[in-house]
Amino acid sequence: MSDRVTENSAHFIDPAGSNRDAMRSLGYRFVDLLVDVASNALARPAFDRDTAPEPGPYHPSEEGRSVAELMNELGPILSTSLNPAHPGYMGHMDTLASAVGIFSDALVSAANNNMLSWEMSPVFTAMERQMTSWFTGLFGWERSETFPGGGEVPHDEAVPFGQLVSGGTLANMTAMLVARNALGGDTKQDGLARLDAPPVFLATKNAHFSFAKAANLLGLGKEGWVGLPTDDHGAVRIDSIGPVLEKVRREGRRPFALVGVAGTTVTGTIDPLPELAEIAEREGLWFHVDAALGGAIAVSERLRSRLSGVERARSITFNPQKWLFVPKTCASILFRDGRDVDTHLREAFVYGTSHRREHGEHYNLGEWTLQGTRRVDVLKLYLTLEHIGRRRLARIIERHLDLASYLAEQIEAHDELELLTKPDLNIVNFRYRGPSPWDDCEKVAMRCDRITASIQRSVEDSGLGWLSLPEYRGRRYLRAVILHPDTDERRLDAILDEVVRAGREALRTV
Ligand SMILES: Cc1ncc(COP(=O)(O)O)c(C=O)c1O
Repeated sequence: MSDRVTENSAHFIDPAGSNRDAMRSLGYRFVDLLVDVASNALARPAFDRDTAPEPGPYHPSEEGRSVAELMNELGPILSTSLNPAHPGYMGHMDTLASAVGIFSDALVSAANNNMLSWEMSPVFTAMERQMTSWFTGLFGWERSETFPGGGEVPHDEAVPFGQLVSGGTLANMTAMLVARNALGGDTKQDGLARLDAPPVFLATKNAHFSFAKAANLLGLGKEGWVGLPTDDHGAVRIDSIGPVLEKVRREGRRPFALVGVAGTTVTGTIDPLPELAEIAEREGLWFHVDAALGGAIAVSERLRSRLSGVERARSITFNPQKWLFVPKTCASILFRDGRDVDTHLREAFVYGTSHRREHGEHYNLGEWTLQGTRRVDVLKLYLTLEHIGRRRLARIIERHLDLASYLAEQIEAHDELELLTKPDLNIVNFRYRGPSPWDDCEKVAMRCDRITASIQRSVEDSGLGWLSLPEYRGRRYLRAVILHPDTDERRLDAILDEVVRAGREALRTV
């Protein structure tokens, strides 16, 4: 007689194998549904705001429901969700997920290891070290699978160290925390209380809003992020940094870090990294590069040099979930010298053991991460890279850049369209301005925003694709993020035609 609280053998895969056949058919039903929806992505819009449900009150089932009943609910949930698998989806950096990435997520759940410690994830810990070490090599640092030491395994040399984290936000926060603690004084021990000057970091306001969250979290307050001016292209103005530093210091504040962005969120602009590195080195500032988006071009030999200067950073954020087709979440934070994170972040994992074996030490990644329990994100990353291949990924990314240039050229060549700035990466911002240029007055600008919003809606309703509507320097733009392996010139042309058609109509009606 079984003493299990669940009589229904369908709830868990029986470790003794009694329900193997039933579990296979359960899995096949999920696979059928998944492939049906994913392979029909062209039949539904990229985004449809009208089908989004309103949340109702939730009442849990007391004794469980049948899989058949649940499967009936899943169809509509999947088919009305955001559809980044549509080649016209160009709203944000949400990619079509790789096939092996999708299926590996189920394997990860089946294994249900925990990246907190070595003994909770012995194989995946080693895999994560391998993959993040490959990343450090991509950005021009030494590759090293060994761990940064500290505690019982000290070492004397700078060895790069990377971690996978759940998103670029967490990566930027981790970098800013380590940078702040490295500024001198023992803020890891004492917090901010003993500092004689409030710490601040410098980045343009085109940097991601995760830096505002980081400033908040680190106790710097919003003022702790000092915004640097940008040029017309959206990049940091190098000539502004000296005077800003002087002013900040005169005010009695203490700059500790300078942030460069390789691919800003709205325009995809790459800041001049060598010049930033130069200033950071001269001024004794921690240089962090947020390459959440742009880091992906490092896989291409043709494009890699556009990131030149990144190798001088002390920390780098890189988000494979954005442009390497790895399903969310999969981001990373990389440190040029692992001892920084060892000294300024690490807390010993006392709930388990440290392990050493003859051929090397084992380590608990959770000692070096802000997160505790972490999902295994490395498997889908590894499988995606291995299945698609580095060179093929590079070709896809190169094609995206060519398409972005193509789109920008079409916009520039059109009398009624206005390009915000030439793309550095795969993002193009533009708007419709009609046959004659807009007056520069506020009233006209607000009407222009309404027209831009109505065009966005028209593109959405046309079923051709979906563009986002970011605000940039106080004005609305249509934003195309080129990210789908099947997007091509024909689709871009069709979307532009729709923009112009809807723009002409909006000029009469809005
Ligand atoms: C440049 C940049 N950095 C950081 C982030 C934050 O990444 P996540 O959304 O994964 O937290 C983003 C997200 O769009 C980004 O564009």
